Amino acid sequence: MQNVAMASLVSVKVALAANPYEVWIGEGLLDGCGEWIAGLHAGRAVALVTDANVGAIYGETVRASLEAAGFGVTVITVAAGERSKSFECVEAICDAMIAAGLDRGALVVALGGGVVGDLAGFAAAVYFRGVPFVQLPTSVMAQVDSSVGGKTGINARGGKNLVGAFHQPLAVLADPRALSSLPRREFCEGFAEVIKHAVIADAEMLDELDADRRDGLEELIARNVRIKAGVVVADERERTGRRALLNFGHTVGHAIEQAAGYGRYLHGEAIAIGMHAALRLSVERAGLPEAACARVVAKLAEFGLPVRVPSDLSEEAILGAMGRDKKFEAGAIRFVLSERLGSAFVSDGVGEDDVRRVVGELRE
Ligand SMILES: NC(=O)c1ccc[n+]([C@@H]2O[C@H](COP(=O)([O-])OP(=O)(O)OC[C@H]3O[C@@H](n4cnc5c(N)ncnc54)[C@H](O)[C@@H]3O)[C@@H](O)[C@H]2O)c1
Ligand SMILES: [Zn+2]
Repeated sequence: MQNVAMASLVSVKVALAANPYEVWIGEGLLDGCGEWIAGLHAGRAVALVTDANVGAIYGETVRASLEAAGFGVTVITVAAGERSKSFECVEAICDAMIAAGLDRGALVVALGGGVVGDLAGFAAAVYFRGVPFVQLPTSVMAQVDSSVGGKTGINARGGKNLVGAFHQPLAVLADPRALSSLPRREFCEGFAEVIKHAVIADAEMLDELDADRRDGLEELIARNVRIKAGVVVADERERTGRRALLNFGHTVGHAIEQAAGYGRYLHGEAIAIGMHAALRLSVERAGLPEAACARVVAKLAEFGLPVRVPSDLSEEAILGAMGRDKKFEAGAIRFVLSERLGSAFVSDGVGEDDVRRVVGELRE
């Protein structure tokens, strides 16, 4: 452990056979990240990728820490928001790295939410055919979910996350102090994935979620990282169906996110509506008790997350966007359902008509 003053530090191992790594969770990790990263990576050149919001708050701290540890730092700032998960931004990042003379010895450090992590991780996966990267997640979404597991990527015109690569980080350093600057809306949206984890793997966690609590979140973050890491280790490349369980709520959620236009809903908000649809289908098709569905929907609402389909989005627009989602396999929808809270499975018994009807029933 490096010489970083921290009240408490939790680590979760992502025990992948080929490239195991650790997720460190602790207050103060951003201030001490340079020394920490120097212990993981021998090279001296860093591309620090961030977005305009996060860069303005934490960019200097992280840059100073990296420089104090002996790194030469090229800061690359993209616009905040989902639209930056684009080919243009990947190109801009790679161009900036080339202009700075960075080669295969470079390290990419992703400082930000899930957008920056997915984008910078993908740039790292393709730059010089792959350079290592470290995740410094700053949103709830990124700390509990997106920074772990190695899925990196961008959106294509035809759909969300359609272009990407599996590229595991060298390490993830999550500083819960960073969450204090998250606006309430962005703070709450991350809990969509927390509630998803509860539904698929840890029903008891539901009762521990409190939208007003901002302190002492280390253990909750670690609990979620353990769930995610367990699934990823069991099925890193989404081949056995285990990792697909993490897509609970995402078939309809991604379609709504895309059909509404990136920027209208945050990812977690669209997923909350998608989870409501998946819960309704779980009641109908998998015997999930009504009360269980109601309990989860109430929890989503407690976090101010939307649970109804907006009136201006037609079933056709949503189904159309779904058709381009990669979760369709050979024309059939592979839909994740839950038969009881804390457990989920992949079903191929859900048809387009079922989805159309449920989406209609969930209108505002
Ligand atoms: N790779 C995966 O496994 C995976 C899993 C889940 C989600 N995702 C992706 O993650 C993305 C969503 O991530 P997100 O919700 O973090 O979105 P985001 O990165 O856009 O962050 C949300 C907003 O909060 C701001 N922000 C982030 N941290 C902040 C902080 N500490 N203080 C103040 N503002 C801050 C950002 O600038 C942005 O405006 C989606 O693109 C989704 O597809 C990926
Ligand atoms: Zn998600």
